[in-house]
Amino acid sequence: MYILMLLLSSPAFSDQFPDCLQCHIHKNKAAGKYVHPAYKQGCYSCHTEAHHIGAKFPKFLFAKGTDLCWGCHDKSKFTKKYGHPPVVRGECLSCHDVHTSDNKKLLYSPIPDLCFNCHDKAKFTNKSIHPPVKEGKCTACHDPHSSNSKKLLLADPPDLCFLCHKKDKYISAASNKHHAPVARGMCTSCHDPHASAFQKLLVADVPNLCFNCHEASDFQGRYSHSPVAAGMCMSCHEPHQGHAKKLLIDRPPDLCFNCHDKAEFTRANQHPPVSAGMCTVCHAIHGSPYQSMLLMPTTDGCLQCHPRIAAAPHAAGGFSEAGHPLKDRKYAKAKDGELSCASCHNPHSSDSMKLFRFPVKKPFDLCVNCHTNQKKKR
Ligand code: HEC
Ligand code: HEC
Ligand code: HEC
Ligand code: HEC
Ligand code: HEC
Ligand code: HEC
Ligand code: HEC
Ligand code: HEC
Ligand code: HEC
Ligand code: HEC
Ligand code: HEC
Ligand code: HEC
Ligand code: HEC
Ligand code: HEC
Repeated sequence: MYILMLLLSSPAFSDQFPDCLQCHIHKNKAAGKYVHPAYKQGCYSCHTEAHHIGAKFPKFLFAKGTDLCWGCHDKSKFTKKYGHPPVVRGECLSCHDVHTSDNKKLLYSPIPDLCFNCHDKAKFTNKSIHPPVKEGKCTACHDPHSSNSKKLLLADPPDLCFLCHKKDKYISAASNKHHAPVARGMCTSCHDPHASAFQKLLVADVPNLCFNCHEASDFQGRYSHSPVAAGMCMSCHEPHQGHAKKLLIDRPPDLCFNCHDKAEFTRANQHPPVSAGMCTVCHAIHGSPYQSMLLMPTTDGCLQCHPRIAAAPHAAGGFSEAGHPLKDRKYAKAKDGELSCASCHNPHSSDSMKLFRFPVKKPFDLCVNCHTNQKKKR
């Protein structure tokens, strides 16, 4: 005891006894697989005043708290715009053992377990997990200390994502139609970067995801397109970018022919707006209040382009001065039970003249298809 007292009072203690581990063996500061590289200069590279009476700082260190670390480490790497709270508070030793550890970088536990000491692990496990998260590579995206990007990210999205994903697949200069949130780099408005209960890390399932930003009621007409009603938005739209307008996977009419029989639209005589692929000049593609998802009642729609048909007696001019009724009459075979232009004409295409629905050689052969018993009505 006396000897020790003497030793402790000696100003040259560390020079006399450089092998600190002779006595500090019970809490071995060098037992781990990895030791602090500063050990190369000896324990007293930090404990500069080891066993000096009246040492300025606790534990005989040359400085207190993080000032010690800044003695050898570049402070600016740890004090960027956004700091990790334990780092900001100077608690380096909540993650690192300053002396020795079995984990790389002197960590108390390996990543990601280290992170889960303070962060709820449940948020990082779910049905779909982002592969780098599953592999515990938190630091592939986050700087554990500080960053100039929010959330300690190594870069702001979308650049962060493009560290691993091919930018061209999502935002290519060549493909000029981009979904607004993608173009603005808001990848995380649709994807959880860690894990999610939905496929592809989506923050919600399609179509609810879309309804986070698009008005759901716009997609719920009385007559809904069945893939829309089924929430299959992706059967027609790309989520990120596309070559066709409105992010369509294909231009109409080819898009439509993925599901509808092309032959119905390409018979010998084709209605010009149909052969031009202008399906949406008549149909509200997601849904509408009118049968067959029309933009307006059938006859009104036809008259948009054929106003003259209503201005003169039509079809039955020779039999009735007023001409044939064009609407507001019952016709049992029609989809909605109403007589319309589409009762006599196929709006898309036909093998008959004048787009007639019925196989006729001359216009008046048409009449018998509906007025069987009385021949032509008078
Ligand atoms: C001859 C034995 C012996 C040697 C050699 C020795 N120490 Fe110590 N050291 C002690 C004892 C005894 C204590 C006080 C009891 C304790 O806290 O373990 C102590 C305490 C310390 C403390 C803690 C001070 C505090 O305030 O808690 C530090 C730091 C320390 N020693 C560093 C060193 C370093 C660095 C070296 C090598 C340069 C070294 N010691 C060499 C015996 C020794
Ligand atoms: C990179 C700087 C650094 C080096 C190198 C270093 N230490 Fe330390 N040491 C510290 C710091 C910082 C503390 C205070 C830790 C705390 O407060 O938890 C400390 C605390 C101690 C303590 C007292 C507290 C305890 O955990 O028992 C001892 C003893 C000690 N060191 C011994 C050593 C020995 C022996 C060596 C060389 C093998 C060494 N140190 C090398 C930074 C260092
Ligand atoms: C006496 C100089 C010195 C001091 C003081 C110092 N370090 Fe170091 N430290 C080094 C050197 C040298 C390296 C190796 C080069 C590098 O990674 O910067 C290093 C590396 C590290 C590493 C990485 C280890 C590895 O395996 O790659 C960690 C973690 C670390 N230091 C933490 C700290 C902390 C925390 C403090 C303050 C409590 C501190 N250091 C104080 C010199 C020091
Ligand atoms: C929240 C936990 C945590 C805190 C707090 C923390 N670190 Fe780290 N530190 C890490 C992790 C994790 C790594 C390993 C990073 C990697 O592997 O890319 C690391 C690596 C390091 C390295 C090695 C850097 C390199 O590029 O290899 C140094 C030096 C370091 N830390 C110093 C410090 C200092 C100084 C403090 C306090 C100002 C501190 N750390 C606080 C988690 C932390
Ligand atoms: C692929 C990149 C990536 C990986 C890997 C990753 N993160 Fe993140 N993390 C992010 C992004 C991006 C954000 C920001 C999300 C936002 O702004 O909505 C974030 C946010 C966070 C937040 C803040 C959460 C909040 O709600 O503010 C924590 C904590 C976090 N990450 C921890 C982790 C941990 C722990 C791991 C490893 C298990 C990890 N991260 C792996 C990209 C990643
Ligand atoms: C460290 C590398 C890395 C970073 C950074 C990264 N990812 Fe990934 N991501 C992967 C790997 C690896 C896969 C699996 C292979 C693939 O699908 O490309 C993947 C897959 C995905 C998937 C598909 C998941 C599934 O279930 O099929 C989505 C979505 C995704 N990443 C989004 C993002 C977003 C958004 C960002 C930016 C916030 C991002 N990633 C950043 C590595 C990364
Ligand atoms: C508007 C929502 C939305 C935004 C914003 C968004 N995504 Fe996606 N992402 C999706 C949907 C939906 C899917 C699934 C597509 C499918 O199932 O066919 C997907 C799939 C993915 C996949 C899986 C592989 C693939 O290409 O199909 C990756 C990787 C991906 N997105 C990365 C990104 C990146 C990077 C960003 C930002 C540049 C981003 N996403 C922005 C909705 C979005
Ligand atoms: C984070 C918000 C957000 C989400 C989620 C979102 N969108 Fe969008 N979307 C927008 C914005 C903003 C626009 C551009 C403004 C506008 O024209 O209404 C847009 C435009 C569109 C367009 C028209 C593109 C053009 O070139 O005019 C389509 C198609 C579209 N979104 C489909 C979808 C689908 C399908 C989903 C679900 C997979 C979805 N959106 C999810 C924000 C979002
Ligand atoms: C059967 C194919 C198809 C399906 C399924 C589909 N869309 Fe569309 N969508 C289109 C077409 C075609 C257009 C372009 C309409 C036009 O040019 O008038 C369009 C346009 C849009 C627009 C842009 C509207 C505007 O006025 O610019 C948005 C937003 C949109 N769709 C979202 C969705 C969402 C959300 C879903 C799922 C609920 C969905 N779509 C399902 C074919 C589809
Ligand atoms: C992903 C498959 C798919 C695509 C692509 C698609 N449809 Fe459909 N469509 C359907 C299904 C399924 C029905 C309902 C079955 C039926 O009545 O034949 C339907 C029905 C319709 C109806 C009749 C609705 C009613 O109330 O009778 C119209 C009109 C229609 N689609 C127009 C279009 C147009 C125009 C396009 C292209 C812009 C298109 N569809 C693309 C699957 C699709
Ligand atoms: C000139 C207006 C017009 C255009 C252009 C048009 N349609 Fe139609 N479509 C109609 C009308 C009217 C009906 C309702 C027919 C009925 O009442 O029997 C209809 C009905 C449909 C139906 C339901 C099945 C059926 O034949 O009754 C589908 C599917 C359809 N259209 C798809 C398309 C596709 C695909 C295109 C583009 C290639 C297209 N339409 C272009 C007017 C149009
Ligand atoms: C977007 C404009 C547009 C709409 C809407 C439209 N048509 Fe046409 N239609 C045309 C054009 C253009 C022609 C070719 C020039 C002409 O004969 O006037 C045509 C021609 C016709 C022809 C003559 C075909 C022939 O072989 O002589 C009939 C019949 C016809 N349309 C019926 C209809 C019916 C029925 C509707 C409503 C379901 C309708 N059209 C709606 C643009 C339209
Ligand atoms: C009762 C059956 C019938 C109805 C209903 C009908 N059409 Fe016709 N449509 C005909 C007949 C028959 C012809 C041939 C007349 C002729 O050659 O004199 C014709 C010819 C046409 C032509 C060709 C123009 C021409 O002079 O050759 C167009 C365009 C047309 N109809 C549009 C319409 C529109 C638009 C409607 C609804 C407003 C409509 N039709 C309703 C029977 C009908
Ligand atoms: C697609 C079926 C259909 C075809 C084809 C058709 N008609 Fe009609 N016609 C009707 C219906 C339905 C009525 C209304 C009967 C009612 O009011 O009960 C009607 C009524 C009439 C009327 C009575 C008009 C009125 O004001 O009550 C005459 C005249 C007539 N049709 C003549 C013809 C002639 C001529 C042809 C051949 C050019 C023809 N129709 C072809 C279905 C058709």
